[in-house]
Amino acid sequence: MTQTDFDKVRDHFPALRDKVFLDAACVSLAPRCATEAIQRFLDIALLCPERSSTLHHIAMDEMRAEARPEIARLINADEDEIALMESTTHGLSIAADCLPLERGDRVILCDLEFLQVAVPWCQKQKQTGIEIDLVPHRNGRVLIEDIAERITSRTRAVAISSVQWSNGFRCDLKSLSALCRDRQVWLVVDGIQQLGAMPMDVKETSVDLLACGGHKWLNSPFGAGFLYIRRERQQELRPSLAGYLSLETPDGGWGDYFQTPSITPVRDYRFVDEARRYETGGTANYPGAIGLAASLKLINEIGTARIAERIYQLTDRLIAGLRTIGVEVVTPIAREHRSGIITFSVGEAKANIALMERLLDRNVLVSVRYTSQVGGVRASCHFYNNFEDIDRLLELTEDFMGSH
Ligand SMILES: Cc1ncc(COP(=O)(O)O)c(C=O)c1O
Repeated sequence: MTQTDFDKVRDHFPALRDKVFLDAACVSLAPRCATEAIQRFLDIALLCPERSSTLHHIAMDEMRAEARPEIARLINADEDEIALMESTTHGLSIAADCLPLERGDRVILCDLEFLQVAVPWCQKQKQTGIEIDLVPHRNGRVLIEDIAERITSRTRAVAISSVQWSNGFRCDLKSLSALCRDRQVWLVVDGIQQLGAMPMDVKETSVDLLACGGHKWLNSPFGAGFLYIRRERQQELRPSLAGYLSLETPDGGWGDYFQTPSITPVRDYRFVDEARRYETGGTANYPGAIGLAASLKLINEIGTARIAERIYQLTDRLIAGLRTIGVEVVTPIAREHRSGIITFSVGEAKANIALMERLLDRNVLVSVRYTSQVGGVRASCHFYNNFEDIDRLLELTEDFMGSH
């Protein structure tokens, strides 16, 4: 994709006309194709063009199902390894619920994580008596050797964000995956700050479970994401409740089933024998999944390698510019650990918040984020950004420094 093509991509995001939008790590912009796809769905909901409500329902199911192959393509998974979820949090909670852990088993987390990566394990700690080992970061880096050192004979899982939310540090997932395989430890990954910006190939780098919401780097509207579950591990999961499991479709389909006089509600139910089993049973968030499918189509068409290259160009420029004006770059800048997030600091949290407010006043959208003393002004550079966006951020940051 050439520079001009990336300029054209901006037309999909009308919000860019009057904003310098550098906040995909908080919530990204949706492209026109996603809102149009949802609109098409809403038109169907409004008019019911099918002959019966049953067919109407099935047509909607099919529109929703288009999200799965797009997700599979994004991470090079197979479709039967993908479950549609409401959010990252939803996927991470199911992962924590389903892992077969017992009292005294240990789970490793690092101290840079977003709270929702930890919440389900904290809950499981209360309910089942598992133990959590917290690995401290080293100057914003999560090192695989530090995780390796913490693994004991009772360690059962490592849960980690492949890209950290406060400083954009991308961990060495390949080494971590090899380590976890070697030590027979489950690897649960939160991919929301990586996917859509930096490629991930689950055939090359095996993870056991990978949760991701759609509203950040996947540019999807709200309420849709996914959980990838590696096929070989699906049989080992032990969900505590059947309530959220999807039932296998009966012979002849649900339409016929509900018209059968002899059916009774209490029987031995069978659940879908693939990742889809973990989707919310019942009528799901159709508009969310339909928007996600359309946003992903755009990302998959551009290609994740090209997107990553574009992001490197933008972030290289931002890093160089910040250094020129004497601003501390908080994000570790080695390419293999980079993502779309560059966090920088002009001093204490108060000063960073004042800078963010100044930027927001001038229609430049960024956030301030911290965890375990790591953070600052977080700028997110996505494929729809351009060099002018970066230069505007730098210019305003330099002005701010001059006035403080
Ligand atoms: C690393 C990480 N995980 C999870 C979330 C929450 O995502 P969701 O709303 O999809 O549950 C966030 C949001 O900031 C995040 O940064």
